[in-house]
Amino acid sequence: MGGAGTPDFFYREAQRLGYVARSAFKLLQMQKQYKLITPGSSILDLGCAPGAWLQVACQSLGPLKNNGAVVGIDLKKVKVPAMHCDSRVQTVCADVMKLQRDQIRDLSPQQKGFSVVLSDMCPLVSGITTRDAVLSAELGLRALNLAVGGGALPHSDDNVQLDGQSDDSVSALGNNGALQPGGHLVIKLLESEEIKEIGQTCKSLFRKTSWLRPKATRSCSREIYLICQGLRH
Ligand SMILES: C[S@@+](CC[C@H](N)C(=O)[O-])C[C@H]1O[C@@H](n2cnc3c(N)ncnc32)[C@H](O)[C@@H]1O
Repeated sequence: MGGAGTPDFFYREAQRLGYVARSAFKLLQMQKQYKLITPGSSILDLGCAPGAWLQVACQSLGPLKNNGAVVGIDLKKVKVPAMHCDSRVQTVCADVMKLQRDQIRDLSPQQKGFSVVLSDMCPLVSGITTRDAVLSAELGLRALNLAVGGGALPHSDDNVQLDGQSDDSVSALGNNGALQPGGHLVIKLLESEEIKEIGQTCKSLFRKTSWLRPKATRSCSREIYLICQGLRH
């Protein structure tokens, strides 16, 4: 529905095309502009409910013979949408803030990590702008930490350290994150001062970074996406 409670263009288009939410058009725009998902990609979708990005991700893989995999994780239990999804899509009900990096890697094909990590996670919005921005930045940092490994982050401290993951276990993993070298990462954030630092961090870790406010983002929303392409080896 639109911000004022009336169905808007993207809501109606989602219904017409069989997407479970209008957010599908955000990933479709990213895919059109940045071509993040290619045939054979392995995609991790953090905060996947109700499943519109699962649909677009699977569609972007092309026919089943192209292989590839899509793994979605959410606090909510998600039934894989029947439309636009096939047997390459699976979902896990879990709190991303509590999952460890090696648990995430275990979900990837042959435990080799993912070629694309998407985070559309957002906190329950309180309406207090600064509080919501901090919570959103925490979720974004967790996605970054899971993707690249805590050791790759300049200020890897307790805020971004995964729960239950000691420094020893990080070094035992060789600071490996769930994202393969050369892979792409998308993080949803709410606009604030803090996110500039996240952008700077990603700039040093990836070949190219861009900020995108998709056309399907509601005018009242402060959301913005950090698109990171080509994780450096
Ligand atoms: C905007 S929705 C995602 C929409 C989804 N990309 C789609 O297109 O259908 C944000 C999701 O993030 C999830 N989320 C928030 N915090 C989370 C956490 N700590 N672990 C897992 N999921 C989380 C929420 O449950 C919510 O379903």
